[in-house]
Parts: sequence; C-alpha cells; structure tokens
Amino acid sequence: MKNILVTGGAGYVGSGLLRKLLEEGYFVTCIDNLMFGGESLLDVWHNNNFNFINCDINNTEKLDKIFSKKKYDGVIHLAAIVGDPACKLYPDLAIKTNWETSKWLIDRSKSSGVSKFIFASTCSNYGKMDDPNAYVDENSNLAPVSLYAELKVKFEKYLLHEIKKNEDFSPTSLRFSTVYGLSSRMRFDLTVNEFTKDLTLGKELVIFGEQFWRPYCHVRDFSNAFITVLNSPFEKVAYNVFNVGDTNENYTKQMIVNEIKKLLPNSKIKYVTKNEDPRDYRVNCDKIKNELGFKISMTVPDGIREIKNVIQNKLIKDPDSQKYYNIPYVKKK
Ligand SMILES: NC(=O)c1ccc[n+]([C@@H]2O[C@H](COP(=O)([O-])OP(=O)(O)OC[C@H]3O[C@@H](n4cnc5c(N)ncnc54)[C@H](O)[C@@H]3O)[C@@H](O)[C@H]2O)c1
Repeated sequence: MKNILVTGGAGYVGSGLLRKLLEEGYFVTCIDNLMFGGESLLDVWHNNNFNFINCDINNTEKLDKIFSKKKYDGVIHLAAIVGDPACKLYPDLAIKTNWETSKWLIDRSKSSGVSKFIFASTCSNYGKMDDPNAYVDENSNLAPVSLYAELKVKFEKYLLHEIKKNEDFSPTSLRFSTVYGLSSRMRFDLTVNEFTKDLTLGKELVIFGEQFWRPYCHVRDFSNAFITVLNSPFEKVAYNVFNVGDTNENYTKQMIVNEIKKLLPNSKIKYVTKNEDPRDYRVNCDKIKNELGFKISMTVPDGIREIKNVIQNKLIKDPDSQKYYNIPYVKKK
C-alpha cells in the first residue's frame, strides 16, 4: 500500500495526517479547494512524495480525470462541510459535498481499484443517549440530531451495508470523538480549544449544557487511527466501523472547565441555559483498541496544556481571527 489520496488534506485533521503519512513512507496526494487557505501545506510542499491538486471534489469531472491519471491504493476521505453550525448555514452545499459527492467518490474509488477507503465519520451519529449513564458502542442506535450527523449516518450506511461488497475493496468508517489539539490549520471552534483559548486570554467563558457528556480525542491520535486502519488486514477492517478515542476520555463540559481551572484558577465562568445542541453521549472505544491495537497518546489535560502554552507564548498572533472558525465568528470581549 503506497499511494494514498487524501481529500480535505489542508484542513485541521488532514494537515497533520499528511505529515504522518509522509513520515510513514507513503506517497501522498492531497485534494483540497482550500476553503480555509493553504498555509498548512507550506512545510510539506517540497517533499518529493507529496503532491497537491487544487480541486473542488464537487467537480466530479475533474475528480474523474484525477482517478484516470494515477492508481491509488488508499483513499482517506475528509473533505466535507464540517460541524453542525456550518451544515445548518450551508445545507445545500452540505448535502452535495457530504452525501452526493461522497457517494460518487466511494463508487469511483471502488471501480478504479482502490483497495482501502477510510471515511471520517463522527460520534455525533449517536445523538442523545436514552440512558445518560450508559456508554454507547458501535452496535448502539444512531440518533443524529443535526444535518451534519444525518449526512454522516447516511453515507456510513451506504459504505457499510448498501454498496455491493467486493473482496478487493475494503471500506472502513471511523466514528471520531470530538477533536482537540494543535494543528497547522488551527481551529478554535472546538470545545477544548476554544475554552482553553478564551480562559487563557482572560475572557469570561459563557457555557451551556455543562452537564452533557462527549468523548474527546487529540488530533494527532486521529492520524494514528487512520494509519492503524491502513496497516490492518482486510478481514479486520473491511465494511467495518470503529469508534475512535478512548473509553476513559469522555468528559462533561464542566469537567473540561475543571481541568482548565487547575492551570488557570482565576478563570471566570458564566452558566446559561440554551435549548441547543442536545447531543449527550458517552462512548465506548474499546473495539478499536481490542481488535486493531489502537491506543491514544494524548489526553484532554495534555491538550489543554499545549493550547494554553501556545496562546501564552503568543505563537498565534490573533487567535480570535475568523480564519480559525468554520462559521462566522463574533469576537468576544
Ligand atoms: N473536528 C472534529 O471534531 C471531527 C470529529 C469527527 C469527524 N471529523 C471529520 O473529519 C474531517 C475533517 O475535519 P476537520 O476538522 O479537519 O475540518 P476542516 O474544515 O478543518 O477541514 C476540511 C477540509 O476539507 C476541505 N474541503 C471542504 N469542502 C471541499 C470540497 N468541496 N472540495 C475540496 N476540499 C474541500 C476544506 O478546504 C478543508 O481543508 C471531516 O470529514 C469531519 O467531518 C471531524
């Protein structure tokens, strides 16, 4: 397995993944339309094993030519309208990108002889748990509560159950925990990153739903999960789904705030009530550990520490800049 095509490789998750794949000796082609710029690719640009194609995946004519020109062994599909708020804001584009084009892409990958196709799904698929004391696993009901998650569930269903099975083709869906941590394309619209940034900058943090549970996973461990699937035998990963993270890394927002307060004890927090984002789930991630040997390398407190240090050392000139958000952002005082 040598030639890997990564869609959305200039993004928060993808930019770290490209580096990891290059380190592991893969030849990497990245396709991205650079919605958030391409600075994240500057330091891999001169790597002889790296190739970039500026392409909107919704331009399937161009994408078709890309597949005709070169044989890819693996496709890692990240390009998407990412997150509940962005999909709510651009529903037509989300349906086109996250469902219609994604379906086209997996079909084209299969017909062009790609052997592994890995999809970045999400634990948001679980939605609201019936029993908040229980943990959901890969066999639990899916109850998406947003267009973003609905489209992930729809594509996952196609990948796992509806596409005609073929023993030379191994598609895998990874249901990722909510991501955090440092990346070359930084995002501050993610809970751990945003809370840590705001409190490090001395702002008052306004939070709602502080009792709701979510699983979290560091962005570097996302890359490790993709590599784990690339290195795993077909019979373990083909037409299969794995939660990605660690069962011990489920937190409520309050627990995250408590971790930040250990480093920044003077943090100011205001609690408000909002009837928004009812996602509430604790996720069991033992399957990927037990069946594929995947282990996380970072925890939420590690991620908080690295973000706090980067902000305090002023490595990011304007951390409130719109470019670190996937949706229009109003600066807080
Ligand atoms: N961030 C999370 O917590 C999380 C959790 C689970 C799964 N995921 C999934 O991981 C993937 C990557 O997320 P991210 O956080 O890196 O998001 P991101 O927004 O930083 O990156 C997405 C990338 O895709 C590109 N892109 C979008 N539409 C495109 C198109 N039509 N053609 C070509 N490129 C296009 C963007 O330019 C961007 O570089 C997504 O599929 C997302 O749903 C993310």
